[in-house]
Amino acid sequence: MKEKAFVMIKPDGVRRGLIGEIVSRFEHKGLKLVRAELKEISRETAQTHYGHLKDKPFFGELVDYITSGMVFAMIVEGQSAVTNSRSLIGPTNPAEAPPGTIRGDYGLDVAENVIHGSDSLDNAAKEIRLFFGRV
Ligand code: TYD
Repeated sequence: MKEKAFVMIKPDGVRRGLIGEIVSRFEHKGLKLVRAELKEISRETAQTHYGHLKDKPFFGELVDYITSGMVFAMIVEGQSAVTNSRSLIGPTNPAEAPPGTIRGDYGLDVAENVIHGSDSLDNAAKEIRLFFGRV
């Protein structure tokens, strides 16, 4: 089933020059990059994107971090794009992410975990609308 997923390389990944490496993992897997933009996101967009976490103690730091520099926002398309993206990305906490996953290979800290990927088809549609408008 062909789907679209929203994927975003976070400011630590962009600062560390990992865009090319990460994009190539999606391409090698067979997911197609159909939109991409390097941009800064507003605090308002960040707060909406992470609205499900607004009561967590780390929410303020999360918004500070995600707005601390450029992100590389992408739409990837292909068969089961949401679950396939999440399996390339790995678990939220890089310390628990196996080697071979993006977070397992490039992250150390749960707060700065390199990359975001939609966790459901519904959220993918919402995130694509939030970051790219109607596509
Ligand atoms: P969440 O949506 O739970 O995970 P995922 O990014 O894997 O879908 O959390 C969103 C981000 O919040 C997560 O990528 C990193 C940050 N975060 C923390 O900083 N501390 C935490 O304890 C957790 C659970 C998440």
